[in-house]
Amino acid sequence: MATRTLEPPHHGDSPVALATARTRQRRFLSPLNPPLRDWRGKSVWLVGASSGIGEATASALHALGATVTVSARNSAALQNFAQRHPGSHALVLDATDPVAVQAAAHAVLSRGPLDCVIYCAGYYHAMRAYGMDVPDMERHMEVNYTGALRVLQAVIPALLAQGHGHISLVGSVAGYRGLPQSLAYGPTKAALINLAETLYLDMRDKGIGVSLISPGFVQTPLTANNAFDMPALLSPAQAAQAMVKGWAQGRFDIHFPKRFTWWMQLLRLLPDRLFFALVRRATR
Ligand SMILES: NC(=O)c1ccc[n+]([C@@H]2O[C@H](COP(=O)([O-])OP(=O)(O)OC[C@H]3O[C@@H](n4cnc5c(N)ncnc54)[C@H](OP(=O)(O)O)[C@@H]3O)[C@@H](O)[C@H]2O)c1
Repeated sequence: MATRTLEPPHHGDSPVALATARTRQRRFLSPLNPPLRDWRGKSVWLVGASSGIGEATASALHALGATVTVSARNSAALQNFAQRHPGSHALVLDATDPVAVQAAAHAVLSRGPLDCVIYCAGYYHAMRAYGMDVPDMERHMEVNYTGALRVLQAVIPALLAQGHGHISLVGSVAGYRGLPQSLAYGPTKAALINLAETLYLDMRDKGIGVSLISPGFVQTPLTANNAFDMPALLSPAQAAQAMVKGWAQGRFDIHFPKRFTWWMQLLRLLPDRLFFALVRRATR
């Protein structure tokens, strides 16, 4: 099989070979996604935007000029958002209902091209192996992962037909590796990470950007019951700003805050023996 290398150009190479090598180097070093800097007039659909990170992100994108559609189950919270953000749309949706997802996507797409879809819906209960609750684990999978699949299935044909657009999946650093209390939640986020990587490979050449959002700890209803000190805790508004910055830089994995998430990235690389020892020690 032929292999492609990124060797620096040699002085003796022909001008064509030099130009080709430089183009390859530029492509290799360029952002993984088309940077999203100008949100004015862009149509954005956020699923899971009645509170927390989703709501704050919808608000930040609205402030940058996007036309946002906010979805979740809590109708009153969505209506309240729409009233506070003129020009935005509230669209009630339970992401675990396949028919409702199709209908909601149809409503969003009927307004014109969709520039960005953000799957932010999330469900979290701490769980350990000695308190295993399979129905609750399935609920985690339904909301955090299968809901994303339903939204993707409903919008991807339209994005491909448009030839542009961006998909963001909100994962978590809890999906990087197994962590205590994360028996139900962690695997759903690990699945989302793998899904985002595979989507990227399939969609990038079709003109569609794909990014994975990997927050550390953010103060939201989801983490309100955590009985431990959350390191490097952010507000939802700070999380939203980090996402806006990551999109502007064309990143694939938009992780934040870096002072916490670089350590989590490092854990990914550790050999199992060292990883388990460190996590045991840190969470004893
Ligand atoms: N907070 C953190 O520290 C943290 C860290 C890493 C990753 N995350 C991820 O960030 C995302 C947002 O979470 P958050 O922290 O902002 O918590 P949150 O405020 O509880 O937001 C979760 C959102 O998901 C929606 N949702 C839940 N079930 C749904 C369903 N069946 N259908 C549609 N929407 C549903 C909720 O709205 P309704 O209840 O109105 O449906 C809400 O809008 C989640 O994916 C979470 O896993 C959070």
